[in-house]
Amino acid sequence: MYVPPKLVTNKDLEKLMDTSDEWIRQRSGIEERHYVEGPEGPSDLALIASRNAIAAAGLTPENIDMIIFATLAPDYYFPGSACLLQNKLGLAGIPALDVRCQCTGFLYALNIAKLFVESRQYQHVLVVGAEVHSTVLDFATRSRDVTVLFGDGSGAVVVSPSPDEKRRILSMHLHADGAHTDRLCIKKPGTLGTDFISEVLIDEGEARPYMDGRYVFKHAVTRLKECVDEALAANRMGIGDVDWYLFHQANLRINESVANAMGIPAAKAPSNIQRYGNCSAASIPILLHETVASGQIGPGDTVCLAGFGAGFTWASAILKF
Ligand code: ACO
Repeated sequence: MYVPPKLVTNKDLEKLMDTSDEWIRQRSGIEERHYVEGPEGPSDLALIASRNAIAAAGLTPENIDMIIFATLAPDYYFPGSACLLQNKLGLAGIPALDVRCQCTGFLYALNIAKLFVESRQYQHVLVVGAEVHSTVLDFATRSRDVTVLFGDGSGAVVVSPSPDEKRRILSMHLHADGAHTDRLCIKKPGTLGTDFISEVLIDEGEARPYMDGRYVFKHAVTRLKECVDEALAANRMGIGDVDWYLFHQANLRINESVANAMGIPAAKAPSNIQRYGNCSAASIPILLHETVASGQIGPGDTVCLAGFGAGFTWASAILKF
C-alpha cells in the first residue's frame, strides 16, 4: 500500500468549512486522511504500492503479465490509469486494463485477474486500487457531507497460481444495480448532453461529487449483508468459519451495522477508516495489506472481503491464506 505523506485531520477541515471533528467522528468514525500535494495522480500512488506488492510476492516488475487498475478518479479522462502505471513500471507491451466500478472496483478487478490466471492466459496479474479524491472534492460547506469522508491512497496485490491447492481465492460474487446511478455520482465532465464541461455546468454543481447519504447508507448495509451471506452459503460456511471480515471502509457505522446484524465479533472485522477515510477502490487492498503486514492474518486463515459502492455495485470474495 501507499498513501501520500500529507495528513489532514478533521480539525484541518474545520478551518475550511462549517464542520466539526465531533460530527465527523460520530457519523463516520474518520479522524484523519491523506491528501496528495502537487501534481500526483492515482497512477503515481499506485506505482509505489505496486512496487511494494511485486517485491512482497518475491517477483520483479518484469514478471508481471498484466495490469488491472481499479479507480473512480483516473489521472485522465482517457487513456486509462493502467496505461500510465504500465509506463511508469517500464512494462511496455503487457495488457493494461482500467476497471470503473468505484468502491467495489478492487473486487471486480480481483475477479478478472483470478479468471486470467485460472485460464492460464497470464501467470502474474498486478491488481491495483488507487484514488486521488482530494483534487475533485469541493471544500465549501455546501459539500461537507461528502468531502469529509474521502481520502487519497493506493493498494496492490499480485494474483498468481498457487502451488498449494488449499491457498487460493475460493469464491467471488459480483453484483450491480444501475437503477441507483444518480444517488452517488459525478456527472461532469461527461459526454451526455451538449457540453462535456462548461462554466454553467460547474456553477450548477455537476462537476462536484453528489451523494444521497442516507439512501446510500441503507443500501450499503443491506447489500453487504446479502453478499456475505451469499459467499458463506456458496462455500458451505457459517459466520464462525471465517477468521477475518475485511469490509470496504466507507463509514464505520455501516460496517458496525453489518457486523452486529450478522453476529460477526468486532475483533474479526478490523477497520482503518479512522486513519485514511474512504479511499474507494484502494480501501480494501490497504486494509488487506495492513492486516497481513501486522501478522493478524496468517497462513491458514479464511478471509472474507466485501464492498459496496456507486453504481450501485457490490461484491465479495472468500480467500484462503
Ligand atoms: N459536518 C457537520 N454537519 C454536517 C456535515 C458535516 N461534514 N455533513 C452533513 N451535516 C449536517 C447536515 O446538513 C444535517 O443537518 P440538518 O439536520 O440541519 O439538515 C445533519 O448534519 C445530518 O445530516 P445527515 O445527512 O442526515 O447525516 P447522517 O447521519 O445520515 O450522516 C453520512 C451522513 C455520514 C454521509 C451518512 O449518511 C453516510 O455515511 N452515508 C453513506 C456514505 C457512503 O457509504 N458512501 C459510500 C461511498 S462509496 C463510493 O462508491 C464512492
